[in-house]
Amino acid sequence: MSGREPKPAWAEVPASLRAQIEALIGGNVARAEIVWGGYGPSATFLLSRASGETYFCKGTHPGQTRQGHEALIRERQNYEAFPELGRFGPHYLGGADEGDWHVAVLESVARSIHVPPWRADAAQSAIALIVAFHDASPERAGTDLRPSEDVSGLLYGEAGWASLIEAGPMRDGFLALFEDTQAAGDWLDRHGAALASISEKGAGIGGPRSWVHLDIRSDNLIFAADRVHLVDWPMLSFGPALLDIAFFLPSLAGEGGPDCNDGLKLYEAVRGIQFEHDDVVTASTVVAGFFAARAGGPPIPGLPRLRWVQKLQLFPALNWLCNVMGIESPPLPRPFEP
Ligand SMILES: Nc1ncnc2c1ncn2[C@@H]1O[C@H](COP(=O)(O)OP(=O)(O)O)[C@@H](O)[C@H]1O
Ligand SMILES: [Mg+2]
Repeated sequence: MSGREPKPAWAEVPASLRAQIEALIGGNVARAEIVWGGYGPSATFLLSRASGETYFCKGTHPGQTRQGHEALIRERQNYEAFPELGRFGPHYLGGADEGDWHVAVLESVARSIHVPPWRADAAQSAIALIVAFHDASPERAGTDLRPSEDVSGLLYGEAGWASLIEAGPMRDGFLALFEDTQAAGDWLDRHGAALASISEKGAGIGGPRSWVHLDIRSDNLIFAADRVHLVDWPMLSFGPALLDIAFFLPSLAGEGGPDCNDGLKLYEAVRGIQFEHDDVVTASTVVAGFFAARAGGPPIPGLPRLRWVQKLQLFPALNWLCNVMGIESPPLPRPFEP
């Protein structure tokens, strides 16, 4: 176990920022608890007033990574530009800033069930929420949001299959994820170039286009008593709905839910559409390439479980890709744990 993310305590929040937060929630904070969840070191608190009302506060702070800092700023801009996100997630109360600290204050959402484990009805309701979110894309999302392919690249870099077919530490890191490194290298030699060329079609994935979240995973879903909430919106952008669901499915499978094929069928059934086979090939290739180029990388300070959760998504994504393309699977992964 590599430990939890290093999140700051409420006492570390500058006093003047605490005062701004109290102004946003309309009263003094009587109690503040760190909220665990997610894979980054963002400051996350459940705040209670003496009257019992609760609020959620998330923020970036001097110990946050550069990407984490940019993500919070983007997320606030997205909440401000699209108040209708409150239909799919918590309502936004406002933001506050002090030096290197920047926070967003939100309605707090109480969890009624913990996921994982993924029960069948939880998978169904998460997918129904994703379909409803895609279907509700406002007209102006197409003009006011950045294209999805810019956003993931902007926050996380462009690496994928093309980087893995070149000799170097990225390729070595990927191969080291398998029991039989030599066999994994042979698999990559046989298929890597084709996968790199399929990935180039990523920006042109067909099917319905809409606003997309691009970071849907169980830690960004809250199963409340009345509905499921989607949280954590830094990558809100405009692009193929298939890409959004395709980034979610490997985590669903990796956490013991339906496999990627079945998860996609569920989405198609709820939405009443069927994606083109070639688009599914492209989407699964892009997603598997994304995780393949990262899961074997060196640890990143402040993100102790990131490589683990990338592996958790990589292997279902590879299975999906091999299944839809009808190619041999890579060899068995080395066992891994958080
Ligand atoms: N509005 C909210 N109410 C209650 N808990 C929340 C709320 N938003 C997020 N959380 C919890 O806090 C965790 C971290 O929040 P998130 O917005 O995902 O930040 P991060 O960028 O650190 O992933 C989530 O995984 C979720 O468990
Ligand atoms: Mg999150």
